[in-house]
Amino acid sequence: MTTPFGSHELTRFPADPRDRLRAWDAADEYLLRHLDSGTGERGPVDLAGAGQITVLGDRWGALATALAAYRPAQITDSALTRAATEANLARAGAAAGAVTLLTTQDAPPQRIDVLLVRVPKSLALLEDQLLRLAPHVHAGTVVVGTGMVKEIHTSTLNLFERILGPTRTSLAEKKARLIFCTPDPEVVAAGAAGTPAGGGWPLTYTLDRDAGSGAGLTAVNHAGIFCADRLDVGTRFFLQSIPTNTDGARVVDLGCGNGIVGTAVAVADPDAELVFADESYQAVASARATYEANVRHGRGDRAEFLVGDGLSMLPAGSVDLVLCNPPFHSHQATTDATALRMFAQSRRALRPGGELWIVANRHLGYHTHLRRLFGNSEVAASEPRFVVLRAVKREKRPRPM
Ligand SMILES: C[S@@+](CC[C@H](N)C(=O)[O-])C[C@H]1O[C@@H](n2cnc3c(N)ncnc32)[C@H](O)[C@@H]1O
Repeated sequence: MTTPFGSHELTRFPADPRDRLRAWDAADEYLLRHLDSGTGERGPVDLAGAGQITVLGDRWGALATALAAYRPAQITDSALTRAATEANLARAGAAAGAVTLLTTQDAPPQRIDVLLVRVPKSLALLEDQLLRLAPHVHAGTVVVGTGMVKEIHTSTLNLFERILGPTRTSLAEKKARLIFCTPDPEVVAAGAAGTPAGGGWPLTYTLDRDAGSGAGLTAVNHAGIFCADRLDVGTRFFLQSIPTNTDGARVVDLGCGNGIVGTAVAVADPDAELVFADESYQAVASARATYEANVRHGRGDRAEFLVGDGLSMLPAGSVDLVLCNPPFHSHQATTDATALRMFAQSRRALRPGGELWIVANRHLGYHTHLRRLFGNSEVAASEPRFVVLRAVKREKRPRPM
């Protein structure tokens, strides 16, 4: 990426040389050009004398890496973003600690003088984060948002306007647009007064009696997670099909979201040991809260909560059962790459004889991938839209098909 802040070699995470998707886009470039030179009536931003710079929603660390010399803080909900940022900073030769890496669950910087916002896909996450950051901005804070034109809607602008202050947009360049917002302390105070504590998050609901092993359980959802306000239809079908009498097995809820799948197993089998894993900090915080809301006090030590890329941090052969409702998106792009990586990671993490159970849209044809990886795949349950597939790890690797 070449911008007024230098040329940087950037990769996504996990880096894959066959991946032709770039780790930055026109929205990142537009924002960086603007900071250097200003567009329209706004002049350049004096970053050197600006004080504390916070970057929210950076996709793969392009903004934090380009601005590393100004020692910004980056706030992200994604462990993949964080890992990409660390790798991109190292490649750029940035000094250790040049960027303060924060998650959406961490306390924000005390005082923010420049707030740069890469608009996230989830409006709920944007609202949640703007509400958290609003008390830390002041009338002089420079707030600039950026995104591709298709990512910025009237509802996006309304959030800035309602939570921070007067907001307008730039002209589009290369299908990207900037958002200029001038914080107004009165708007910030009124926004805080007119919003329930935490912006109404986390959101809690009780699963109805048709939710299989999840019936009657409480789901706790932080802003921005998958299906935060209702039970997903695929998850509902999964809950009706998964094995719950696991005989004290070590069970992983992979891509756990709010953790309702793993919690259903923990409630049905008090001897099961649960691992909840997701790349979203908001999701893992939700899973922990869901688990604690449903599982008897004193069992907390039987569950682990991991934020990271799939099962990469679990030792090989260390689990008995993996349950997964895989994602079909990675940072805006529709892709099965993450699901396939999760299947391969599951095979590695399972002990011989261990099982991977997944739920997926029938048309995705995941049975072919499971057969290639595990040498077997059977339909455990099926309905018109979804299938639940089960694959068993055999001692020997299957011969390539
Ligand atoms: C389809 S949702 C399923 C959520 C939850 N299990 C449910 O059924 O409601 C997929 C989940 O995978 C997570 N995810 C995406 N990429 C991941 C990765 N590389 N490693 C771990 N989790 C990931 C997403 O954050 C999301 O929570």
